[in-house]
Amino acid sequence: MDLKKYIKDIPDFPEPGVLFRDVTPLLADKDAYQESIRLLSDFAKEKKVDLVVGPEARGFLFGCPVALALNCGFVPVRKPGKLPREVVSQSYDLEYGSNEIQMHSDSIQPGQNVLIVDDLLATGGTVDAAVSLIEKMGGNVVGIAFLIELEALKGRELLKDYDVYSVLKY
Ligand code: PRP
Ligand code: ADE
Repeated sequence: MDLKKYIKDIPDFPEPGVLFRDVTPLLADKDAYQESIRLLSDFAKEKKVDLVVGPEARGFLFGCPVALALNCGFVPVRKPGKLPREVVSQSYDLEYGSNEIQMHSDSIQPGQNVLIVDDLLATGGTVDAAVSLIEKMGGNVVGIAFLIELEALKGRELLKDYDVYSVLKY
C-alpha cells in the first residue's frame, strides 16, 4: 500500500519556509491507518516492550494504537501545565520554535523497556527530550518508531544511540 498518497504537503505552515507533512488524510482512511499501526507495531514486536511513550498531540494518535497492538500500556508526554501530578521536565528545540515537555515523575519504573512512538521525526528535539526524561526515571529505550522521517533535518543523528525506525522517508 502506498501510504505516501495519504500524506498532504502544506507549504509555509505553520510559518514561512516549513513544508508541513499533514497526516490527517491517513488517519481518516481506515486501511491506511491500520497499515501504519501494523508496520509500527511489527518493528517492536520482538522487543519485549513494557510501555509505549508518545508525545502530545500527534504522538498519541499513533502511540496509543501501537500500545494496544503490543498489549502494553501507554504513557503520555505532554506540554507544560497539562499533567496534574508531580512531573519531570525537559526543554527542546523544534523545526519551528522551542518548547518544554513533561511526564509524570512516576510514569516509568526503573528497568522497564520503553518504545517511543511519534508521527514525525524532524530535528529529533522532541524525542531526544523524551529519551532524557525516560532515562532519568530509569527506563530503557528499546526502540523509537515514527510514521514519517524528514531526512534532511538529520534527527536520526541526534538519536544515533537508539534503534530508530520510520515507515516513510522524505
Ligand atoms: C511535531 C511532531 C513531532 C515533532 C517533531 O509536534 O508531531 O512530535 O513536532 O519535530 P522534532 O523532531 O523537530 O522535535 P508538535 O510539537 O508540532 O506538536 P503537535 O503534535 O501537538 O502538533
Ligand atoms: N513537526 C516538525 N516539523 C514538521 C513538519 N515539517 N511537518 C509536520 N510536522 C512537523
